[in-house]
Amino acid sequence: MILEYYFRKSKKASLTNLLTVLLSIGLLFANGADVDKAKWGEGKTLFKSNCASCHNPKADGTGPALSGVTARWDAAGTFKGKTGNQWLHTWITNWHDAVDGGYKYAVDMSNSRPAEMNVFKGVLKDEDIDKILLYVENPDFGPTGPTGPTGPTSTPTEANEGPGSTLYIFAFFLIVLVAILIGVTKKLDRIIDEKKGIVVAEAKKPFWKNAKVIVAACLIGFVFLGYYTVDAFVHLGRQQGYQPEQPIKFSHALHAGTHKIDCQYCHSTANNGKHSNIPSLNTCMNCHKNVSKGPKYGPDEIAKIYEHVGWDATTKTFSKPQQPIEWVRIHNLPDHVFFSHAQHVNAGKVKCQTCHGPVETMDQVYQYAPLSMGWCINCHRNTEVQFASNNYYSTYEKIHDDLKKGNISKVTVETIGGTECQKCHY
Ligand code: HEC
Ligand code: HEC
Ligand code: HEC
Ligand code: HEC
Ligand code: HEC
Ligand code: HEC
Repeated sequence: MILEYYFRKSKKASLTNLLTVLLSIGLLFANGADVDKAKWGEGKTLFKSNCASCHNPKADGTGPALSGVTARWDAAGTFKGKTGNQWLHTWITNWHDAVDGGYKYAVDMSNSRPAEMNVFKGVLKDEDIDKILLYVENPDFGPTGPTGPTGPTSTPTEANEGPGSTLYIFAFFLIVLVAILIGVTKKLDRIIDEKKGIVVAEAKKPFWKNAKVIVAACLIGFVFLGYYTVDAFVHLGRQQGYQPEQPIKFSHALHAGTHKIDCQYCHSTANNGKHSNIPSLNTCMNCHKNVSKGPKYGPDEIAKIYEHVGWDATTKTFSKPQQPIEWVRIHNLPDHVFFSHAQHVNAGKVKCQTCHGPVETMDQVYQYAPLSMGWCINCHRNTEVQFASNNYYSTYEKIHDDLKKGNISKVTVETIGGTECQKCHY
């Protein structure tokens, strides 16, 4: 009797306690980490759409690797009453301002590379910059933890989703758990009441049979399902970080990096064609008639070239049967998008690395940029074209006029129509 009494008294209390504890753990989890997680996630998105075409947090690209950047600028010290961190914000907003302001670190930085950074004045607010810095200083923070996928490409291969989705899953399970616990409490209540002989007049319907609750549960279910379906569709066909095995272990790091072979020696149509070709194995044979061993795989991988082109290494003739080679295609825009290499490489003078990343350091090529519409448009909004000096633009008379009259001060790709739908869509 006492026990039962105790049970009855404490059961509710302890279950309520348990619920409270669980809820607060949940909230703590959600709140404590959430502020950072949300900002980190936004920072990551901002970084991907504004900076990733030139920067990687951990690897050098067109711009320097960004992790540790806050400490580097802090160490550069206060100048004209602004701390290193404030100068860093100035730099990211408009690097010209930091250079014109005479901040030595910025001046040295701007002289360090041939490429120039975009200007983000009016695009990014100070708090956006804080979020980006939070991301680049903690690139591995996220659902997969610091390990992530293997290999030198762990940053680009990481999943497209931020920590947001794990939070959703966590919240979902928390709701389910709370619901079950409430259910159990009610049921226990009734069992005890019945034992004590209290007739429960037509026990109230359990809460999960209540129509409102069912509707609400269905709604929540739909939202979750919808979120994941839409997410899956949006990322369908996009494969940033995609890095397939190739039939021959051809290394860009060795050829374009160590041996400094020009990209266009092999990808010769990038300058004047829509597509950039993959070289035929005959191009490889220009060198590999003589180079039959490599530093890493000895004769094994180069022997595969010989096999495909029908080269007999002992007689030094193409006397054997040939077999075509099928490289696995990495970059692939949907059919409804028009993209021309010549327009970017030749007319726009955009470097391969701006879009493809530091290929000359990759043993195995991976897709560096998202190739999303936002990625194209962002660059078109931010990139100034060398307008006045490039003959390619001589027919744009109105814009030349506007420039002369001072109606406009700069010409971006957007000015010449680079964000009109039909320019990119058939
Ligand atoms: C078009 C290419 C490009 C884009 C886009 C770009 N940067 Fe840069 N960034 C550079 C280059 C190149 C440098 C090296 C300085 C120079 O040569 O002007 C640089 C330098 C920097 C530096 C100084 C690095 C150091 O080690 O001190 C920071 C910080 C930086 N960028 C942040 C950003 C952020 C944040 C974004 C996105 C909002 C961004 N950049 C977008 C090309 C770019
Ligand atoms: C010696 C010849 C050679 C040189 C030099 C070379 N590449 Fe390649 N590239 C290839 C071959 C072969 C492939 C296909 C196999 C592979 O993906 O590794 C390829 C693939 C690529 C791809 C992926 C194509 C796809 O399927 O989407 C890109 C991007 C690329 N190269 C860019 C570059 C850049 C940028 C440079 C200069 C830094 C360069 N390449 C230098 C031979 C070369
Ligand atoms: C301009 C000259 C040149 C061209 C063109 C060239 N290579 Fe090479 N390749 C080299 C040199 C040099 C080495 C390294 C030899 C060494 O360091 O011992 C090499 C090494 C290799 C290796 C051995 C890698 C290793 O680590 O064992 C492979 C495989 C290879 N090349 C494949 C190709 C393929 C495929 C192509 C054509 C797409 C190609 N090469 C085009 C010069 C060239
Ligand atoms: C403005 C961004 C941009 C620049 C600059 C750029 N590429 Fe590409 N590259 C792309 C895109 C986008 C694709 C995918 C094209 C498609 O699917 O039709 C691609 C595809 C490729 C491919 C695969 C074959 C193809 O054309 O589909 C190779 C190889 C390649 N690029 C090499 C290069 C080389 C080498 C350079 C420098 C000379 C270069 N790219 C410059 C964006 C760029
Ligand atoms: C790194 C910056 C950059 C990226 C990324 C980029 N572009 Fe461009 N794009 C340029 C520049 C610079 C020009 C100007 C060259 C010119 O006038 O043709 C240009 C021009 C164009 C034009 C011609 C516009 C016109 O008015 O003549 C088309 C079409 C185009 N880009 C399509 C794309 C597509 C599609 C993508 C994404 C898959 C893309 N671009 C990504 C920099 C970029
Ligand atoms: C600078 C080039 C560019 C311009 C301008 C452009 N798009 Fe796109 N668009 C793309 C690329 C690249 C994709 C493929 C994105 C992907 O595969 O994720 C795309 C995809 C799409 C899709 C398919 C949905 C998706 O996300 O894959 C639609 C719809 C679309 N664009 C509509 C438009 C409309 C409407 C406009 C004009 C307001 C426009 N686009 C202007 C490059 C462009």
